[in-house]
Parts: sequence; C-alpha cells; structure tokens
Amino acid sequence: MLSGIQPSGHLTLGNYLGAIRNWAQKQDDYDTLFMLVDLHSITVRQDPAALRERCYQFLCLYMACGLDPDRNTLFVQSHVPAHSELAWLLNCYTYVGELNRMTQFKDKSKKHEANINAGLLNYPVLMVADILLYQTDLVPVGHDQKQHLELTRDVAQRFNALYGDVFKVPEPYIPEVGARIMSLQEPTAKMSKSDSVESNYITLLDEPKRIVKKIKRAVTDSEAEVRFDIENKPGVSNLMSILSAVTGKPFDQIERDYAGLGYGQFKQDVADALLAELEPIQARYAELRQDQARLTEVLRRGAEAASDRASDTLNRARDVIGLVAA
Ligand code: AQP
Repeated sequence: MLSGIQPSGHLTLGNYLGAIRNWAQKQDDYDTLFMLVDLHSITVRQDPAALRERCYQFLCLYMACGLDPDRNTLFVQSHVPAHSELAWLLNCYTYVGELNRMTQFKDKSKKHEANINAGLLNYPVLMVADILLYQTDLVPVGHDQKQHLELTRDVAQRFNALYGDVFKVPEPYIPEVGARIMSLQEPTAKMSKSDSVESNYITLLDEPKRIVKKIKRAVTDSEAEVRFDIENKPGVSNLMSILSAVTGKPFDQIERDYAGLGYGQFKQDVADALLAELEPIQARYAELRQDQARLTEVLRRGAEAASDRASDTLNRARDVIGLVAA
C-alpha cells in the first residue's frame, strides 16, 4: 500500500481523519510506504526554507499520529531519484490529450493562472511513476485523485501491452472508515490544507484555544436541531462527522444525545472531543521535533529502503525499452 501528502500548507484535521489515521490503522495488515511528495509540491511556488521545514514537520506529524518508522517505509519522494526517472520514461507513454483532460489540472490552472507550468500538466505522470515503481496493489485515494489512479491503470496497461508484465496494475482503495471533513465556514467545500482562510480549517498543531474558537464559530444554520442532513444542514452534518470520527459514536446516537439541546453544548462537546484526540498527538509531536538526528535517520533509512525496492522496477522498465544498462 502506498500513499503520500504534499508538504504544502498545514496538515489539517481532514488529512488526519481522511488519510493518516487510516494509514496508521493499516500498518500491520499491509506492507506500507508513505511519502512526503515534495516534487509534487513545487508545481506551485514554495518558499525554500518553509518547504524544508514543512517536510520535517509533516514527518513528525506522521509519526505523532502513529505511523511507526519501523513498521512503514517513511520517505521523501525527492530522496529517491527513481521517481523522476520513471516519470520521464512514462511521459513518453502518456498522451497530452490525457493530461489535458485531468480535472485537477484544469482546477489548479484556474487557481494559479500566473504559473501554469509544465510540471502542473505532468503532475499525474509523476504520480503514475510513484505508484508503479513499487508494484503497488492498493492506493488509498480521495475522490479528487481517482482520475489520476485511472490514468495510472491506463499507462500501466499500455506499457505492459507493449513490453510484457512490467507493472502491476493497481486498485484504488476507498477506506471503509474515511470521514470526509468539510470547511468550517463553507461546509459544502472540503477542508483543504492550502486554504488561505484560516477559520475554514483546523490544523493538527492549532493551539487548544484556537480549536475551540474555530469550532464555536463554525457555520451551522438557523434551526437548533442536531440532525445529519448533508444537503440541508451541511455545517451541522460536518460537525457530526467530526464528532463521530473521533468518538466512534454513530450519527443516530449523536442525534439522540443532543435532542432539544441546541448547538451550544453540541459545539462544546465537539471541541472537547477534538482536544482529547489532538492533545496527545501535539505532545508527541513536540517531543519528536526536538530530535532532529532521529528524524534525519528515519528519512535516510526510508530513502534507502524505498530506493532498493524502486530500482528493480526501474531497471526492468529501462531494459524493456532498450536503454543500455549502466
Ligand atoms: N477534507 C478532507 N477530508 C478527508 N480527507 C481528506 N484528505 C485531504 N483533505 C481531506 C486526504 O488527505 C490526503 C492528502 O491529500 P492532499 O495532499 O490532496 O491534501 P489536501 O488537504 O486535499 O491538499 P490541497 O487542499 O489540495 O492543497 P495542496 O494542493 O497544497 O496539496 C488524501 O488521502 C486526501 O484524500
């Protein structure tokens, strides 16, 4: 199983409940690789010092959320040059028309009009390479990445049809417990880690007071009924999803618990439940962040393990294409 997050913006509650927490729950059932996809993040301009710092910060958060470097391969994408090399090879087996059709490219082009660089268009090919390098079976993906996974399958099948079974054709993996967390102020849009409006998201490192404030100010509606109804009550439904994800309480129980109580107590309890979930993560983070030598060592070992595994597939692809062995 392989997945990754771009070291951009701030890791949010959405990233945790929708991705990292599920990864941690799977680490004993699967052979897992989790990346910090820094090469993807530079399709948008990044401040160099902040990018470097964020890689360590996100690694620490992966570990603080329970990803054990002894049971997973944790690494930075750019530390394994095979990603870039396979991406180049696969660029030659991907059609421009396919890339032009990617909805994420269209969305990001609109958002970053002044910098529609070739990397933004080619981004999905790098993702294809990330996945195919490790003969990955399962790729946990959010809805926004499904089209990229379809492309991965198409490119793998095209390449295999030409040269034999070089790549495993991966399956998307939709986690059975994967809450989709929405923006606190615009609950019809997902909570996004690069959102410029701070009150829309909760970061994993927000101070407790700030978390309480953001939950208390979260948009609800003019009724006073705690009821799960995404269409008519997106704000309340989002807060219910958060409460349910962190306490394990089903929606019908939450509805019963708050019948007739209004939103005040409900929001307070959502905030309290969140603090109980995030405070231990923040404490572990603070401890881990002190130990730079350990973090560097985790990344060194991760890069070594990932490179070892990647080189078999890369060499096979080079060979069948007809590149002379080095
Ligand atoms: N709101 C969310 N609810 C549930 N899961 C989420 N994920 C992201 N947001 C939510 C899951 O986190 C993993 C990483 O996704 P991503 O790197 O695409 O993060 P993002 O927050 O969605 O980032 P943005 O907003 O697109 O910003 P940039 O462009 O900076 O990366 C995935 O598994 C995703 O499903």
